Amino acid sequence: MISRKSSFYVTTPIYYVNDIPHIGHAYTTIAADILARYHRGRGREVFFLTGTDEHGQKVQKAAAARGMLPEEHAGLMAENFKNLWETLNISNDAFIRTTDQGHKKVVRDILLKLWEGKLIEKRSYEGWYCTPDERFWTEKDLMNGKCPDCGRDVEKIEEQNYFFLMSRFQGRLIEYIDKNPAYIQPETRKNEVLGFLKKHPLGDLCISRPKKRLSWGIPLPFDGDFVTYVWFDALVNYYSAASYLAPPDVKWWPADVHLIGKDILTTHAVYWSTMLMALELPLPRTIFAHGWWTIEGKKMSKSIGNVVDPAEVCQKLKDDYGIKREHAVDAFRYFLMREIPFGHDGDYSEPALFHRTNTDLANDLGNLLSRTLTMIEKYKDGVIPEPLPLKFRQKQSEDIGGISYQKVLEGDVRDSFLALKKDRIFEKHFDEITFYAALNYFWETAVKLANKCVEDSAPWKEKDQDTLSNVLYSLAESLRLIAIYIYPVMPSAAQEIWNQLGIGKEIEKELRSNPKLIEWGEYPVSGIKVNKGEALFPRIVIKTAPLTEKTIPGGTPKITQKETLKMQEESVQPAAEAQQENQKAENLISIEEFAKVELKAGRVLNAEPVKGSNKLLRLEVDLAEECPRQVIAGIGKQYKPEELEGKTVIIVANLKPAKLMGLESRGMLLAATDSEGTLSILTTEKTVLPGAKIK
Ligand code: ME8
Repeated sequence: MISRKSSFYVTTPIYYVNDIPHIGHAYTTIAADILARYHRGRGREVFFLTGTDEHGQKVQKAAAARGMLPEEHAGLMAENFKNLWETLNISNDAFIRTTDQGHKKVVRDILLKLWEGKLIEKRSYEGWYCTPDERFWTEKDLMNGKCPDCGRDVEKIEEQNYFFLMSRFQGRLIEYIDKNPAYIQPETRKNEVLGFLKKHPLGDLCISRPKKRLSWGIPLPFDGDFVTYVWFDALVNYYSAASYLAPPDVKWWPADVHLIGKDILTTHAVYWSTMLMALELPLPRTIFAHGWWTIEGKKMSKSIGNVVDPAEVCQKLKDDYGIKREHAVDAFRYFLMREIPFGHDGDYSEPALFHRTNTDLANDLGNLLSRTLTMIEKYKDGVIPEPLPLKFRQKQSEDIGGISYQKVLEGDVRDSFLALKKDRIFEKHFDEITFYAALNYFWETAVKLANKCVEDSAPWKEKDQDTLSNVLYSLAESLRLIAIYIYPVMPSAAQEIWNQLGIGKEIEKELRSNPKLIEWGEYPVSGIKVNKGEALFPRIVIKTAPLTEKTIPGGTPKITQKETLKMQEESVQPAAEAQQENQKAENLISIEEFAKVELKAGRVLNAEPVKGSNKLLRLEVDLAEECPRQVIAGIGKQYKPEELEGKTVIIVANLKPAKLMGLESRGMLLAATDSEGTLSILTTEKTVLPGAKIK
């Protein structure tokens, strides 16, 4: 039997089969997948469960509306979920359906046990019933005569039913939550549950529905005229799956984490906890209720037509923007985890997804890989060099406008990875299920730091071969480790990094057999021939985008294209006339004229020579707009493309687009040239965010 410490059991809610899967379902399932992959990579035996909730009135109604039997309808809908999980690279170990014989047996056994233990009673009941939510409410629960949860109509129902004596467990539950602060997370949710339990007397839970009203459910083992309430049936899945779907050699119960949305916190924190107490079974270690996604500020709904299908999003990233299908899936997974803290609500929008993909994935991560491999190819014949004893290099610092800025050297990158391992901050975030913080921290201490090392150590200028070897080795080793760390979130991109580094092995398998591989220097990358491939995350450039309110140079929201064009004309013509006048006079311009020139700081995401020109470079510059700007600059004789990537530059953002060598330049890069012909591009004294205005 494997000890609990070395096993990990994570679940998602089981989703209703009355609807198609969407971004909300994907959110919880991706989060569970990330935890599962993380724990597998730490050498634990993992059981990751998801599935479908197939009984109850909603499903019966949805099937009837399609002219199908509930079992037929449920079967088809369950397939939709399974297909989406395959698309999103979900590594669930089992998929439970509440119509499985194995599950139904456990539900019946549990009901019988509670019935025999006199924890279920038959009573006459009168109440208000919300059919869509399948919940009873008392008169005083109602809000303006409607369901307090969903605001829909309720109907008065009087009938005999069976009740689980939940009220008996109120005191024990309060005590348990008080004593186990990690049981309900995040803390705000725990406080909500405790606040409710301490203020309101807990009622008993109606756990049956008369068969004459609802036939689609598990019959009560002690009264065939009734079926089991869908929530009682559904919650048992976490326990039943452990008995008939999980590998037999591990004691899986209690589960480690139930991941759920905040909408179903009460059913888990109160119903499920008290059911387990009544059964004298241990409670799961943690119930984590995450936040709610809205779509461009609105609740997702079929009637608004704003339901986001994750498979469509990934397909679009592939078809329209050339991101490999598996990497598009990774970008989507990363975005959901990185955009908002896991317990908070968030708003989904395509521009936000594109921006996050461009900045963190194309620019920071993808660039680091491609620059490193290009340099290894160019300076080391494509073979990762041996690290040599680190030479003492005077800590280099630069004085920029009176501020001393410490350069990042290869030793700093190594130290950062050593500290990452030693301090266990990343691991702590994973243990606390704070993905956002984990990724944020990792990007700063690893990905961005390694990129800074490229810029600050400028290998293209390095004459000393030993130093060059050390820098390139450190970058390759950083990438090997970065892949391990990001693997749970972006499994395909992580594997691709290993493939391009020339390590022809599977990350998870290697890590499971040797957990020390997460340490600096623990894998012999030196001597490996790299295998540079396509860009990991090609930048999302909306090439054919017309000038719209969002993409006009320096555009401000709410300006139409027509207005924009008019503005552009106006900003050129009167200015040109006025300029001639001024030139004739004193060659001076007024402040208003100067204010018409929109100067912005931008970050160079990518730079490459323009084919057929030895002077022009094609730059992609992040100005914090919907997509990066293409700017063609005549600086190719003075600057190498790799020197520019990551640099802050100054762009005239509202210049009319112009064509150079057939390429459209949407802005002008500013540079100073002195009388001796030295050309130097303008930058900012401190690092400012892309899009910063220059006045
Ligand atoms: O409630 N934002 O199933 P369900 C974030 N069958 N997460 C969302 C979301 C959104 N907009 N929409 C859905 C049920 N979710 C029951 C569960 S468990 C024993 C029974 C996610 O199909 C979130 O995890 O309505 C939420 O709790 C779940 O889907 C609800 O799925």
